[in-house]
Amino acid sequence: MIFTSAFAATLLALLVLSASITANESGCVSSYDESRDYFPDKVQVKYGAGFDITYKGNAKYIRNSISGENYVLYQCGTPAPANVKATPADSLQVGNWTKIAAVPGTKIVLDSAPASAIIEMLGVQDAVGASYKFFKVTSPCMQKKLDSLPKVQQNFGTSKARKRNNALVRRVSYDISDSDLQWTFTTYGMNDPHSFAVNPENASDMLGKAEWIKFVAAFFNKEAEANKIFDEIETRYKSIQKKASTETRKTVGFARYNKVANGTIISWTIEQPQPWVVQGLADANMKAHNSNTAAFSNVDDFYKATEQWDVLIDLSIEPLSHGGTTIPLWQNLLQGYGFSNQAKDGLPKFLSLKSIYRSDLISSYQNATDYNEHLQIQADQLLEDFGKIASTNSGTTDTVWYRNMPLQVPVNWRSPSNCQS
Ligand SMILES: *[C@@H]1O[C@H](CO)[C@@H](O)[C@H](O)[C@H]1NC(C)=O
Ligand SMILES: *[C@@H]1O[C@H](CO)[C@@H](O)[C@H](O)[C@H]1NC(C)=O
Ligand SMILES: *[C@@H]1O[C@H](CO)[C@@H](O)[C@H](O)[C@H]1NC(C)=O
Ligand SMILES: *[C@@H]1O[C@H](CO)[C@@H](O)[C@H](O)[C@H]1NC(C)=O
Ligand SMILES: *[C@@H]1O[C@H](CO)[C@@H](O)[C@H](O)[C@H]1NC(C)=O
Repeated sequence: MIFTSAFAATLLALLVLSASITANESGCVSSYDESRDYFPDKVQVKYGAGFDITYKGNAKYIRNSISGENYVLYQCGTPAPANVKATPADSLQVGNWTKIAAVPGTKIVLDSAPASAIIEMLGVQDAVGASYKFFKVTSPCMQKKLDSLPKVQQNFGTSKARKRNNALVRRVSYDISDSDLQWTFTTYGMNDPHSFAVNPENASDMLGKAEWIKFVAAFFNKEAEANKIFDEIETRYKSIQKKASTETRKTVGFARYNKVANGTIISWTIEQPQPWVVQGLADANMKAHNSNTAAFSNVDDFYKATEQWDVLIDLSIEPLSHGGTTIPLWQNLLQGYGFSNQAKDGLPKFLSLKSIYRSDLISSYQNATDYNEHLQIQADQLLEDFGKIASTNSGTTDTVWYRNMPLQVPVNWRSPSNCQS
């Protein structure tokens, strides 16, 4: 009898406890216990991602060193941490804003392509409630979803704000204050209290890019899922790295032709690769041509500067006569780099090796490319692309993101009709 009532009391206590921590449909809890760790599943940054995260009680403290902002996320249904003061919405402070939000996200705005990719990987698409009106993605199912959702505008700085500072202060904000939308995922730090920057393109190494999965997951309390996805990417990355090409180390350069709207090519530019590209190429046993940006007004000088390159990554944009730009095709490159005017023995090495690539193999008709979306996150897959480029002397067509130009690989255009579900 005594045993039974003790048992019943324990059971009751357990029921009470679980009731107090059970989240409602919006993921909010109904009571607050100061001594409780609300986030038993945590993420930790191991590589050069560009952000840090720490946990304490009912809050997560994030420093985004790329955007220079502080984000404090607290469990919905519990009080916001008393020691944190959010930067007021009308502040003219430039950078280092502190922004607070209750998580998990259930109705958010998208204006970040990598955040879109991560949201799909975590399976939290239902939490997307709107998108910025000019935001475009390649993912067919996300395109379909966004087509059916409201569009959000941006507000720009007021003249009053400009006058006070006697200078133009960037005061862009997303117009969501009159809605039940929670926040916007963006590309850079905005002077507004409800936008959060997602910056894998500024990570300093390849696996640091993938760690932005952890960052986005923290906004949805999906840390456990993020750790699982990241661990798989990391394991696969290291195994691909181990099998890197043993061929002679290839040199990879980045360049563009500069064409004006009337069709004239005015110059050629060698671009400096980002640190993560340099690191990723090295992990695939290739060497990035890493000099300062240099411009050439004479194509022969450009050929001379690039004569050691085994691979050219083309970054050109093709201007349209009526305005706007589009993706260059092989004919555009032939003209843009003057390959067809060149004597055979004067042709650059990367052309004879059929090794000219662009990272826009997966694109949408709205000029979105997957370079900004999944490529920024799936470091293992990206290293695999680099590995394939490294291990051939006749150009590969078997890549996910890199489009072989001399072999005229067609763009893989994605539209909502490609969504399988
Ligand atoms: C969930 O709980 C929060 C906080 O208590 C409350 O504001 C919200 O309306 C609730 N949502 C639902 C769907 O019950
Ligand atoms: C940025 O803000 C944080 C928190 O408000 C503060 O502790 C820190 O000193 C600030 N850093 C800079 C560089 O202003
Ligand atoms: C982040 O990367 C983008 C794209 O390369 C670049 O335009 C931007 O200036 C970078 N931002 C910072 C803070 O480094
Ligand atoms: C095209 O534009 C360039 C630069 O703006 C100019 O120098 C050139 O003369 C123009 N060419 C023609 C054919 O209009
Ligand atoms: C996108 O590409 C199409 C052609 O493919 C072009 O007509 C349009 O102007 C481009 N849009 C922008 C914003 O560059």
